[in-house]
Amino acid sequence: MSEIAKKTQVVIVGGGPAGSLLALLLHQQDVESVILELRSRDHVLERVRAGVIEYGSGATLREAGLAARMDREGFVHEGVNLAFSDRLLHIDFERLTGKHVIVYGQTQLQRDLYDAIDRAGITLVDEAEGVDLHDVDGGSPRVTFSQDGAEREITCDYIAGCDGVHSTTRDHIPDSIRQTFERLYPFVWVGLLSETPPVSDELIYANHPDGFALCSMRNENLSRYYVQGSAEDTTDDWPDDRFWETLKARLPRAVSDRLVTGPSVEKLVTPLRSWVSEPLRHGRLFLAGDAAHIVPPTGAKGLNLAISDVVYLAEALAGFYATGDETGLEEYSDRALARVWKAVRFSWWMTSTMHRFPGMSNDFDRRLQKTELEYLFSSENGQRSMAENYVGLPL
Ligand code: FAD
Ligand code: PHB
Repeated sequence: MSEIAKKTQVVIVGGGPAGSLLALLLHQQDVESVILELRSRDHVLERVRAGVIEYGSGATLREAGLAARMDREGFVHEGVNLAFSDRLLHIDFERLTGKHVIVYGQTQLQRDLYDAIDRAGITLVDEAEGVDLHDVDGGSPRVTFSQDGAEREITCDYIAGCDGVHSTTRDHIPDSIRQTFERLYPFVWVGLLSETPPVSDELIYANHPDGFALCSMRNENLSRYYVQGSAEDTTDDWPDDRFWETLKARLPRAVSDRLVTGPSVEKLVTPLRSWVSEPLRHGRLFLAGDAAHIVPPTGAKGLNLAISDVVYLAEALAGFYATGDETGLEEYSDRALARVWKAVRFSWWMTSTMHRFPGMSNDFDRRLQKTELEYLFSSENGQRSMAENYVGLPL
């Protein structure tokens, strides 16, 4: 790695998709930044996470020249399937919206972003420990951290907090102005990756009386499946046999008959919650991505929101450096949050509609859920609304 500058325009804390893409978009508009990432490169590049890229996110990556491999190796999905009561409903994105999504692992996208960062010569400091922010609401912010035991300091104009769900940059927004909004869901997703051919060439989201299941994929011989588990479950509770049996039981017969099982190559348990921290700006600090909001993965929105936040933020910062006009910076928080809340609503709706909630066996909520799905199965307008949100609302 090259010598770390002592001064830059924007310090970006966190090198996940939000931080990496922000650095690249800024670089393309002649704004200089330094990325400070807590983890090692291998750690960041090996995390298995999201899989669905919205239509507009795909376009953003393409315009930024970051989509060559995604367009070669990703899979265009023109629809998804919803399974309910042994029936499958195909939601035809292309017919309903003229758009599609791309199934391309976040792991691959992260690699593409890091490769582009290296090519652009952007400084990415790995294993930056103890990152701390100073004078965030004054005129000359600074960021201190240590690397390989050496204490370092960078002065800058602005700081972007892109440090994910456990963000510490967020703590620099005083409690007196910060508001949080939260909904916890009383279950988890258990995810499994296996080197088997996917059961379907499109995603299947299944609502079953015993719980939710999702069939996704990474490529022709790499499948990604999820099942709903209990809130207190860990991966130890889900040996492969139990996972496959559960998944099979929750899929329509015509699908489960074709399911090819195999040993897991990765397994995770992830809690589900909706959570938003407002505002996204305090003084010279801006938050973007999971540092500011979390959505349950049911709507496939988290990564896409990280992308839309940084598109807005890069536009605002580049606008300021080009013209000296701070209007874009002042509007960033409201602009980003307006889109975030629409995705929060959609992810909440998908989660509420597709999962079994404890204690809901025969009650009012279960009837409503059934009616919601019956409506979707019978109404093209309902399907169009779902498709419009899933492929992604305009930026
Ligand atoms: P992160 O990816 O978390 O990156 C934050 C970075 O900051 C990390 O590299 C971290 O190491 C670093 N960091 C943290 N603390 C510090 C610190 N103190 N100093 C320096 N660096 C720090 N989203 C979708 O859009 N579609 C999907 O299909 C989808 N599926 C998902 C499935 C699962 C199982 C999970 C868990 C998530 C899924 N998501 C999905 C969500 C998506 O993965 C996240 O929303 C996305 O990673 C957010 O990017 P980010 O850059 O904001 O945060
Ligand atoms: C995935 O492939 O990991 C995936 C797909 C769709 C989701 C969530 C995760 O809604």
